[in-house]
Parts: sequence; C-alpha cells; structure tokens
Amino acid sequence: MTDSSTFDPPGPVMCVVGARPNFMKMAPILRALSTHAPRLRAMLVHTGQHYDRDMSDRLFTDLGLPRPDINLDVGSGTHAVQTADVMRRFEPALDTHRPCCVIVVGDVNSTLACTLVAVKKNVPVVHVEAGLRSYDRKMPEEINRVLTDQVADRLYITERSAGDNLRREGVAPERVCFVGNVMIDSLLANREHAHKPADTLRANGIDPSILTAHGRYGVVTLHRPSNVDDPQVLGRLLGVLAEVAARLPLVFVQHPRTRGNIERFGLAGQIDPQRVVLLPPQGYLEMLGLMAEAALVLTDSGGLQEETTALGVPCLTMRANTERPITVEEGTNTMVGDDRVAILQCVDEILQGQGKRGRTPEYWDGHAAERIAADLDRWLAEAR
Ligand code: UD1
Repeated sequence: MTDSSTFDPPGPVMCVVGARPNFMKMAPILRALSTHAPRLRAMLVHTGQHYDRDMSDRLFTDLGLPRPDINLDVGSGTHAVQTADVMRRFEPALDTHRPCCVIVVGDVNSTLACTLVAVKKNVPVVHVEAGLRSYDRKMPEEINRVLTDQVADRLYITERSAGDNLRREGVAPERVCFVGNVMIDSLLANREHAHKPADTLRANGIDPSILTAHGRYGVVTLHRPSNVDDPQVLGRLLGVLAEVAARLPLVFVQHPRTRGNIERFGLAGQIDPQRVVLLPPQGYLEMLGLMAEAALVLTDSGGLQEETTALGVPCLTMRANTERPITVEEGTNTMVGDDRVAILQCVDEILQGQGKRGRTPEYWDGHAAERIAADLDRWLAEAR
C-alpha cells in the first residue's frame, strides 16, 4: 500500500489556451480528461492572448469551459512582445505546479510560446492538431506549427496528410497519433444548441428580414494579416464581396483587427448596409447557427474550413493555400484566393445548386478528444 505521507501524486495535465480558435478545441479535451481522473488531473491556463468579452468570455460560457486556474493576461502586442510575454509569465506557472505534461492546441503564438518554455524545462509537450502545413512561411501560424511540432513529444493529428508532413520533417512516427478532429467534437456536441440566425441578428439590434426576404444568405469572416492589413488588398476584397452581396445578402462577422482596419483605411463606404449585415465577433452558438443555415461561407479562417465541411455547407476560402487539404479533397471547401472571377463563378454555381456537398472525413466523428485522453493516459503511464 502507498504511504500517503510519501506519496507524490503526478502533476496536473496543464492545458493551455490563448486565442479564440483554441477554446473549441480544448473544451472536449478537458471533458475527456475528466473521465480519466484521478490518474489525469487537468489544470487550465489561459494566456490572455484574446481577452475581449466577444473574443474570449462568451466562448468560455458557450462551450462550458471552466474558469481558467491561471490567467496570464498577456493581451495584444507584436509577435515578439506577445510571444515573449507569454513565455515570461508561463515559466513561473510551470515551476509552481510542476505538471506531468503540457497540452497545447492549434497554431497561435501562445501555442509556440508555452511549448518553448515547457520543453526547455523537460516537461513533455503534447500538441493537438499537429502536422498541418500550408507551406507558406509568411504565415505566422506556419512558423508556430513547424517549431511546435519539432519539439513536441506527442503529436495528435486530425487528418492523415499531417502525418506525411511530419514524416517529411523527420518527426519519428512513434510520436504521432491519428485521432481525428477535436474541433468537430465541439461542433457535434453543440449543433442542436446553435442559435437561430434571426435571433442572432435581433440580439444585435438588426431586423432579420434581410435574411428571410432573400431566402438565403452567405457568411463572411476575414482576419488574416495578408488579407486585411494592406489597404489595397482589403479594398479589393471588399469590392469582390460587394459583387457577391449583389447576388445574395451577406452576414459579415468582423474580427476586431478587420473592423479596425476598415475604419482606419477609410473603406467603410464600400459596404452596402442594404446587402451586408455587419456583426461584431459572435459567440460559438451564434456562429454555429449562422454557418449551419448559410448557403455559403466566404472566409480565410482555418477553423471555418473544417466546420463547414462537417456541416456540409460550401466554403470558399479566400487564401492561396490551405493547411487543411482534406477539406478540399473530401469536404466542401474550395480555394479561391483573391481571384474575383473564381469567387463569383463559385458563388453562381453554389446558388444554382452545384456547390460541393462533400463527405465527413475519417474520425471527424465527435470522439477525437476521447481518443486523445485514452492515449495520453497510457502514454503517461508508460513514461512514469
Ligand atoms: C490570432 C492568431 C490566429 C487566429 C486568430 C483568431 C496568432 C499568430 N494568430 O490572430 O492564428 O486565427 O487569433 O482570431 O496567434 N484584439 C482585440 N481583442 C482581443 C484580441 C485581439 O481587440 O481579445 C485585436 C487587437 O487589436 C490585436 C488584434 O486584434 O492587436 C490582433 O490580435 P492577435 O491576438 O495579435 O492576433 P489575431 O489576428 O487575433
């Protein structure tokens, strides 16, 4: 029998979130870990990279995430400042709580920052959504992904192509485990609780008849620096969106970066309020409802490419490349970049009922987080 006075329980599984797309990935992981208690004991760290009510708190509530045990409150900054601030503030948390491993998700600056701190302290790092590659090193996320995967100890992948990418980069196959997509776990768990689009518009003081009068609508999100930080590029994209809006009304859910730049660059006049509904960042259930009933989604987000595939809604991705090729090969996604002709042609095809229907990729079945928890439980036991 273990003498309780000398028994040293394993440290917690420290789960890190930082920015909006992390929250829907971590929620199912925390739930799955709780079914492996007391062997696995989760502790939630929020770096505070996203901090607004709209960008953070509302999603915590919608997703049933617990209050973080630790909030590092880093806020916004340049990439260097933000990454450095997360590292400086995360290190004492590791020293205090001595976790048995750190779980990071996705590809945001907080993902890489916490990974670097943990590996240098010999704390095993577990990366969820590993191996995705756009092969575009101008994207900050690509740098975060490549570096995190090089040093992480256990890598969970959402699609098999990610394993091929990791193999090419010399990552030992024993470190890689195909589990499916935790973001889709959240989507399937919340699908029936999604808010009706008309209610979402009403909650924002907007008459929803713009949606019903036309029978269908599209959803737009844009936030990639390459699309929204240059006035000429953003102006051109807004011009294309105006042409799309002439075909069907659009609900444009604006990231703070995008809203700020539209104002700063004096581009607000390009948006016709009769055809385009502008909304601030939405909660998870509002966004899910808006997407689920849309005729199409126009986006540069990574997560929306996957969510639309799971929902069977055609997605036009306004980027030159994707790190999620399965959404194009098997799902509903089409890469259109900033090509006006391609965008309008795809929109017309979708409106004529010729949009991609796609099929659900392997293991995007709502049980990815359970696979992670089971594997982690076994892997940590072997390491002890
Ligand atoms: C970050 C991620 C990106 C992810 C996106 C989702 C990196 C490198 N990028 O980009 O991968 O797709 O989150 O949103 O980590 N801001 C607020 N309130 C907030 C947070 C940000 O107003 O709660 C504004 C600030 O002006 C800030 C800007 O948005 O400067 C950008 O935020 P930041 O976290 O730097 O990057 P994102 O563009 O959100």
